Amino acid sequence: MKEKLKAIVEEALTSINASEELDKLNEIRVAFLGKKGQLTDLLKSLKDVAPEDRPAVGQMVNEARTALEEKLEEKKNYFAKKIREEQIKRETIDVTLPAKKPMVGHRHPNTIALEEAERIFVGMGYEVVEGPEVEYDYYNFEALNIPANHPAKDEQDTFYVTSNILLRTQTSPVQVRVMEKGKLPIRMIAPGRVFRSDEVDATHSPSFHQIEGLVIDKNITFADLKGTLAEFARQLFGEDTKVKFRPHHFPFTEPSAEVDVTCFKCGGSGCRFCKGSGWIEILGCGMVHPRVLEMSGIDPNEYSGFAFGMGLERIALLKYEIDDMRLLYENDARFLKQF
Ligand code: DAH
Repeated sequence: MKEKLKAIVEEALTSINASEELDKLNEIRVAFLGKKGQLTDLLKSLKDVAPEDRPAVGQMVNEARTALEEKLEEKKNYFAKKIREEQIKRETIDVTLPAKKPMVGHRHPNTIALEEAERIFVGMGYEVVEGPEVEYDYYNFEALNIPANHPAKDEQDTFYVTSNILLRTQTSPVQVRVMEKGKLPIRMIAPGRVFRSDEVDATHSPSFHQIEGLVIDKNITFADLKGTLAEFARQLFGEDTKVKFRPHHFPFTEPSAEVDVTCFKCGGSGCRFCKGSGWIEILGCGMVHPRVLEMSGIDPNEYSGFAFGMGLERIALLKYEIDDMRLLYENDARFLKQF
């Protein structure tokens, strides 16, 4: 019996030492210490041992059992440690890996064009001011010399909040608001959103943006207007850009003009971009009408001034050669990323 026990213990120890994974240890435990295990079997055959020897043999078997259990536990801990070490090694963070960059937004073409225009005018000593988008009929029309029955009111149909409050159709009312304050001289631009009841197409939107300009001082002439806008065009579209003033009509300026710049694509010789004419229209302007000055409390005999207004989208479309205004409002990142 002693020999048998020794053999079993030796076999068990060899198996434990040779085992290479945790599952194997369980198999060994079952094979030797389980209900039908070899050591358990041996304990069962204790009845065949002479009664006087039983306690000693029983003790031997129990000691062997404890020894095997300890050995199994030891090996189990060894495996647990090894598994943990491997896991740590596997999960080590490689700090040299390129990081995931957070998506950074991008300025909209409108914003880029606006900042460019602001930079140019601020450089010429202009102040940037803002006016309300919800405006009184008085500021949007009346004070700009557009009385109730004037046909210009038809062209600028808009969204009315009440019969005398509306969404402004132009940034020109900001001229009146600044003049009314009575602080002279004035040299300002007023960018902002405007509204008209227009259908959406490649060149129209019910909501778009304008940049208004106003200069009031003593002895301001059309020459100042011309020089200012020529300089603006050169800075915005390039040194060689020339400007052309075409007579036009606006109720709040007299004389009035529309301004064309030489096509920056072909330099003026005519191309698809400028529809063969060599010129591209960019804004409306004129000398502030004496009636407009008077209505805002400025003496037209002492002061004179010029004003201009341009569509911001139009500038952005021209500058970036975009052929459809709707692209500016669709928020398609694939489009916006290009600028
Ligand atoms: N407000 C005009 C429009 O929306 C544009 C304009 C023309 C503004 C001439 C001006 C100006 O200040 O002098 O069509």
